[in-house]
Amino acid sequence: MTKTDIVILAAGKGTRMRSQLPKVLHRLADKPLLSHVLDAADGIADAHKIVVTGHGAETVRAAYQDRSCTFVEQRDRLGTGHAVHCALTELREQAKVVILYGDVPLISSDTIAKMLAAVDHSHISLLTIELENPTGYGRIIRDADGHIEAIVEQKDATAEQLQIGEVNTGVMAMTTELLATWLPQIGNQNAQAEYYLTDLIAIARNAGYSVTGVNPSSASEVEGVNSRQQLAALERVYQRQLAEQLMASGTSLADPNRFDQRGTLTAGTDNFIDVNSVFEGNVSLGSNVSIGANCYIRNSTLADGVEIKANTVIDQSTIGANAVIGPFARIRPGTQLGSNTKVGNFVETKKAIVGNGSKINHLSYVGDAELGEMVNIGAGTITCNYDGVNKHKTEIGDNSFVGSNSTLVAPVVIEQDGFVAAGSTINSTVAAGNLAVGRAKQRNIAGWKRPTKNK
Ligand code: UD1
Ligand code: CA
Repeated sequence: MTKTDIVILAAGKGTRMRSQLPKVLHRLADKPLLSHVLDAADGIADAHKIVVTGHGAETVRAAYQDRSCTFVEQRDRLGTGHAVHCALTELREQAKVVILYGDVPLISSDTIAKMLAAVDHSHISLLTIELENPTGYGRIIRDADGHIEAIVEQKDATAEQLQIGEVNTGVMAMTTELLATWLPQIGNQNAQAEYYLTDLIAIARNAGYSVTGVNPSSASEVEGVNSRQQLAALERVYQRQLAEQLMASGTSLADPNRFDQRGTLTAGTDNFIDVNSVFEGNVSLGSNVSIGANCYIRNSTLADGVEIKANTVIDQSTIGANAVIGPFARIRPGTQLGSNTKVGNFVETKKAIVGNGSKINHLSYVGDAELGEMVNIGAGTITCNYDGVNKHKTEIGDNSFVGSNSTLVAPVVIEQDGFVAAGSTINSTVAAGNLAVGRAKQRNIAGWKRPTKNK
């Protein structure tokens, strides 16, 4: 049996979220809860994923159009056992099946694999965990030999059973044949008049099968999200785990509790990340990179030795080795900064290719531009890339110098070694090595009288 079917229950209403959005579409680290579970399922070879939807079924299905998984709808919420029953027709013969939950996002591929490994034709497996406060959970009843015998729901438990700290996580695995045989035997004679999936354990025991308990590697793997408070708490737990991984791989964090990764962050070694920076999408850091406080970096690649000073935003850009950016810089999509470049405070770039060693140090907008190497852009320089209808390009050759407060009206070219006088408006080519002065000549008016205050 190498085939695995993975059933993910996601029909619940999520009443306590108080939301129009189905609960499993709420985001943890900017990724829907259900996606976390589907990603963990993807860690299992040849897994066929079946998602049981109910509340907001259409919305959930629409969110996963491009994903390889099957959706079945549970029209009436008659309990977890009934929910799994709705998926029965999608299960394959000669396969193992594991039941997961769309609102328990941090389950790991390793734990799913452990659950499956414990399953054979005479064993089923159940994921359990010992909790200090087991209130609300189904308790695990073991016999004198320590074998799992049954699960008793909180609402059905005796005072003595309520003292048990080992609880059901709801995650179980068995062969699809056994699941199909036993599901119809589940009844609804209980405090909630629901078909409890958990009853399978007692049914299995009565049929002479043994139930192997498996434990997750951490409690966070089995924590569910029922409210926004729990979602926020789990976000912190998850972020802390990501921070620990990053530190273990050789990056220092000023404070691992003030670090946010929403996507994939790859990093070399000896990087330093100050507090409150957010990394979104796919971000790659080389080595010896330093990120200041309060930066936002999304879908970007930063080479070795880059220094990002505080309060900088970098989006869909590539930053060359040893570049220094910020504080307060905004690097917009399509920017490619060469090595040893400098982009300083209150500079905005967009679709700007900047050659090695070039500097844009203060208060500039450089958009739809291509700068050569060792170019110096003076403070307050603006590329006028937009004529109100179309975008146009500015090209600036190697070693050029653009004086402060210049306006470069695109399309325009400054050839290499060009020199633009401060305060110029440039709208035609500056030939190589030329000085361009595009400003009104200064007049001094002698004997001029200042205005006086009206009486
Ligand atoms: C369930 C377990 C309990 C365990 C706990 C762990 C049962 C009967 N009880 O209790 O032993 O300790 O999880 O969190 O299984 N769902 C459906 N359709 C339904 C009912 C539920 O899809 O008809 C989904 C919900 O969306 C939810 C999950 O199943 O994601 C759990 O359902 P819920 O009713 O909340 O079970 P618990 O009371 O938490
Ligand atoms: Ca619940």
